[in-house]
Amino acid sequence: MGSRWVTRIKYSPLSRLAALPMRARLGLGATARHAGAVLRWLATSREWANFSYDLTPQGVDAVACAISVLGERPLEEVRAWADELKRDAVFAARYAGRVRGSRLRHITDPELRYGRCLVRYLLVRAAEPRLVFEAGTDRGLSTWAMVRALQHAGLPPGRSCIVTVDLADDRGELLDGDEGGYVQRLVGDSVQRLCELDAPVDLFVHDTTSDEAHMRAQLAALAPRLAPGGWLHSAWFTAPFVEHCQRHGLRVLQYAEQPQGHWYPGSRCGIARAYLPAADAATLGP
Ligand SMILES: C[S@@+](CC[C@H](N)C(=O)[O-])C[C@H]1O[C@@H](n2cnc3c(N)ncnc32)[C@H](O)[C@@H]1O
Repeated sequence: MGSRWVTRIKYSPLSRLAALPMRARLGLGATARHAGAVLRWLATSREWANFSYDLTPQGVDAVACAISVLGERPLEEVRAWADELKRDAVFAARYAGRVRGSRLRHITDPELRYGRCLVRYLLVRAAEPRLVFEAGTDRGLSTWAMVRALQHAGLPPGRSCIVTVDLADDRGELLDGDEGGYVQRLVGDSVQRLCELDAPVDLFVHDTTSDEAHMRAQLAALAPRLAPGGWLHSAWFTAPFVEHCQRHGLRVLQYAEQPQGHWYPGSRCGIARAYLPAADAATLGP
């Protein structure tokens, strides 16, 4: 009897009105949860920009799968690298010390969260690069994670180097000088600085801005410099990114960041890799 009435109302002119409370609960529930997360963040976080968050386990798997495919490495190995960074007490101690003992304490949360720096760590572990170019240093958290990746991989300074560039001259607070020869810090526009480079780039990390003109210029500067088998990561999977990968024959994937417990929904990131010449691919590992 009851369900006959429900069916009658459902397929009548009253349908929209009758369903309003249920539809409001469905739609506004997500808004209320989001508002709750924003309020919690306003009350507890100190961050202004370049927010830190952990990725959900699925978020870690999303990026690990992409790196596993492009790097032709077993997924288990990539997952193990993620655990390696999380167990790295030296990495965490530097973060805690710098955040406690510098001006960072006013704009940085004391809790170390492994979102984007973990991705860069995995990229370095997979790429085993000679030269990394990072566009956008900020505090240097990803740079520091990449240094640790080179160290864990047993790749000494001299064999491997990270060039990191920022427009602002007061960044890199989490870094210790040149990190024993691993890091070269540059100030200026990342497009211009990349154009001045005359060595092949094995891993390019694009983390400046998603501005379309900048991104096109940045990728155009990268094109003649990306090494065979080289990797490209962008915090933004945009039309210029895809066009660049298509034009230059890179294998390209997108993955969604999945921040845990943060109101920021995460970005859709792009990850791409150049093909190795056939002879190299036959003789070399990833
Ligand atoms: C999202 S933050 C970088 C975060 C850093 N890679 C990390 O993982 O911690 C972006 C940085 O890019 C810098 N930036 C913006 N536009 C730039 C440009 N055209 N050239 C160089 N740096 C730029 C900003 O000053 C800012 O510090």
